[in-house]
Amino acid sequence: MAALDGATRGRLLFGGDYNPEQWDRQTWREDVRLMREAGVNLATVGVFSWATLEPRPGARDFGWLDEVLDLLHENGIGVCLATPTASPPPWLGARHPETLPRDENGTVVWYGARNQFCASSPVYREHALGITEALARRYGRHPALRLWHINNEYGTACWCDTTAAHFRTWLRERYGTLEALNEAWGTAFWSQRYDAWEEIIPPRRAQYLRNPAQLLDFRRFTSDALLECFTAERDAVAAHSPEVPVTTNFMPLFAGLDGWRWAAAEDVVSVDLYPEPAAGPEEPGGAAYGALVQDLTRSQARGPWMLMEQAASAVSWREVNQPKPEGLMRLWSLQAVARGADAVCFFQWRQSRQGSEKFHSAMLPHAGERSRTFRQVCELGAELARLAPVTGTEVPAEIAILHDWPAWWAGSQPARPSAAVDYPEILGAWHRALWTGNFACDFAHPEADLGGYRLVVIPQLYLLSDAALDNLVTWVRDGGTLVCGFFTGVADPDDRVREGGMDPRLRRLLGIETVHDWWPLPPGETVRLSDGGTGRLWREDLDLAGAETLAAYAEGELAGRPALTRAGHGAGSAWYVSTLPGHRELAALLAKAAAAAGVAPVLGGLPAGVEAVRRGELLFLLNHGREQVTVPLPDAYRASRDLLTGRVHATEVALGRFGVAALSPTPPTSEGSRT
Ligand code: GAL
Repeated sequence: MAALDGATRGRLLFGGDYNPEQWDRQTWREDVRLMREAGVNLATVGVFSWATLEPRPGARDFGWLDEVLDLLHENGIGVCLATPTASPPPWLGARHPETLPRDENGTVVWYGARNQFCASSPVYREHALGITEALARRYGRHPALRLWHINNEYGTACWCDTTAAHFRTWLRERYGTLEALNEAWGTAFWSQRYDAWEEIIPPRRAQYLRNPAQLLDFRRFTSDALLECFTAERDAVAAHSPEVPVTTNFMPLFAGLDGWRWAAAEDVVSVDLYPEPAAGPEEPGGAAYGALVQDLTRSQARGPWMLMEQAASAVSWREVNQPKPEGLMRLWSLQAVARGADAVCFFQWRQSRQGSEKFHSAMLPHAGERSRTFRQVCELGAELARLAPVTGTEVPAEIAILHDWPAWWAGSQPARPSAAVDYPEILGAWHRALWTGNFACDFAHPEADLGGYRLVVIPQLYLLSDAALDNLVTWVRDGGTLVCGFFTGVADPDDRVREGGMDPRLRRLLGIETVHDWWPLPPGETVRLSDGGTGRLWREDLDLAGAETLAAYAEGELAGRPALTRAGHGAGSAWYVSTLPGHRELAALLAKAAAAAGVAPVLGGLPAGVEAVRRGELLFLLNHGREQVTVPLPDAYRASRDLLTGRVHATEVALGRFGVAALSPTPPTSEGSRT
């Protein structure tokens, strides 16, 4: 299988979406001149070019793309060539309205924007494959080609009749018989029993709550239907260029695709990342969110990954769109590199003057080459070139956060104990607690081999398969330390509630006898705990059998009942967290569990807002605050060289506002100034 190193060839990739069809030839020449000036070595071409490449069915015009690819190649710029299938031309929808998606109400979603395709439509698939094969035939051997970029941010769902037929085929494969489907969906409830396959439809708008198992299967199906589109295009391009890696760009922490299944189907995992620009030690929201997405993407990739898109400055789709303050784009780009990215790319190279995203920033903004943004882009390009030695290296981690999409889907259905519990928020709170403590962590599938980890945390996995439960039990009994959050192990893969409301295997592992009740808290309310901490969102009324109480509820209906618990299993232990502790308390609890598991932070005692990440040999230090800080260096990094500046730092390093150091432990003998 082709891999990212086939594209990187020993240096970090730097560039962005390039849409030359919006510009004249003179501008193309200016583009390559400025790309070279900025150190751009990768341009993603053709993402939305279908209507230009195929202005009417079968009438294809590749001349302009030949010129663009040749021009980029002559200038030493590699190409990430996209299949344009995310945005079919108007003629496809006009001539074949059945390719247009329908929403849950059965209403057609028209062309005039983008992403208007039904993944189940054979007509869409045929045309998408047609243009893809033509591109692959023509450019599969082009010397500029580094990477294939299939479609763009897959995620469109459809409820049309073609989808209904496809859904039924998928269900037949999953269940074999209608009896098995009726059993899995619990159709005895509310007289929903199906008597013939033809009666089954996608979960369209209905009078009241729709069947949750059907909703869950429809999520699985939609992800799989889109994956079929991806793999068909992937195979079509691979047939003409087997050595060129293939990717599709994910949306970050996106609910619409099963990210583990998708990542396994790609050569290279890439993601688009647009955090809120808030930054600073008090509210490092964007940085914490970025770290989460980066850790997840690296884990999906099982190694280096691509930041396919980010904004050079402001986006255009929030209520109020502020530019990134000086230095923030650099900081977040280097954060991605520290957390395993081998490519730092943007949407887009040149800012559009027309169309829906004309106010979205770009590497080369409306203000042109003398702009603040372009200057920072050039500076970043030069720095990324200096970081070439990091290419291909790993980010070591001894902690795994378990995460899975079906658990997210099933646990987020309507009619549950509390609609105020938001899975991404819970996941974010737990990851952020580890991030604040500078603990390196991966994400893992609940059935994955956990052998390489010492600490495993489950922020929340409402749905767990038997295989996942057995995996956890074995891993803890073999000496692992597990910290498990509330509303976990509740349902099986059909969304059927397990015996006792929490699977008995998990209860035994956690030392819990009975979960009498879940007792959620309304938004904004907190509950005091006996250790001085607080909890929010959730409480549970637990009887323990073997676990010790680390903290009890200190007030309210559950006063005196266990809130945080721990059960020992030889060298292993299983902790339960039946509420969402405040940020500091969760960070302290996880630090305690990490210590018990023998896991140390990358670096302890750092000033607030400073992030430390190890990648390969390098120690990255990132200051997310606006104040200068001084970081004492650990022994292994005394007299280390900062690859970004070339300076050698003897015992400490000063980081200014949004400052970054990338320290290499082996300094050259004589050059460089010392601090
Ligand atoms: C991404 C998308 C790009 C562009 C960007 C900025 O989601 O892939 O094509 O739209 O957002 O809004």
